[in-house]
Amino acid sequence: MSIEVIRDLRGLHSSIARHRHGPLNTAASLAIVPTMGAIHEAHEALVVEAKRNANIVLATIFVNPMQFGENEDLDKYPKSELEDIKRLESKGCDIVYIPENETIYPEDFDLTINVPKLSSVLCGKERKNHFQGVATVVAKLLLQSGADYAIFGEKDYQQLLIIKSLVRDLDIPCQIVPINTVRDSNGLALSSRNQYLNTKQINIANNINMIMNEAAKNFYNLDINETISFVLKKLEKVGIKKIDYVEIRNNNNLKNVTNNDKSNARLFIAVYIDEIRLIDNIKL
Ligand code: PAF
Repeated sequence: MSIEVIRDLRGLHSSIARHRHGPLNTAASLAIVPTMGAIHEAHEALVVEAKRNANIVLATIFVNPMQFGENEDLDKYPKSELEDIKRLESKGCDIVYIPENETIYPEDFDLTINVPKLSSVLCGKERKNHFQGVATVVAKLLLQSGADYAIFGEKDYQQLLIIKSLVRDLDIPCQIVPINTVRDSNGLALSSRNQYLNTKQINIANNINMIMNEAAKNFYNLDINETISFVLKKLEKVGIKKIDYVEIRNNNNLKNVTNNDKSNARLFIAVYIDEIRLIDNIKL
């Protein structure tokens, strides 16, 4: 059966109802894969994981204005709707929901969901209100769809923890399923923003994962500050001039990790290659 393209809420509800009570003849389970489009292999991996968890797979494409800052790339965020639909279909996605802005944020919409502790560190420092935008739109998409599972990549690890926290605190009956960061053959974490990189910039970006792996190898032999200086120096050496952060934090709550208890540590980095912001993280 070919993929169903839905653009409004009523259509979404009737499509899901039809699929849930369709040929499986049982109340089938539904997994959602929220995206902002520009579908690449990492999104495809999310769809594959969704299929492993549920009978019906719903992907969403919505470039959420609420999560972009004033000087960010909302206007030039890559758009490739037809190609996106084909790629989602080829991985077995059943429904793609591409809502208009008004369907998500109707006139007089007056709600923001804030997960303040987890949002105040790492990317939340530089990208003010970004995670409020993410939390609000994800809550809406989960509630609009009534999905049983939602699949997110660990590349956006802070986002993943924030979403887990909001689902827990709002009692949204949806299980959050993470998948490992998908990387290209050079270790570069796949991201829609990688399309902005030229060849020279890609060559620089390819070093990021290698440096993180080296840091991980030596993590238990060095002090935390030594690991951080090691990463900073190496990033500078390969030509990365602007570093937003290099931090080691607890995997579950993003609290600082100390030399006395290095368990559950994760290395997080955000850098700029020229004006393009890239993030990555790895378990230590
Ligand atoms: O990770 C993303 O692409 C977005 O932040 C998400 C989860 C689709 C919300 O807009």
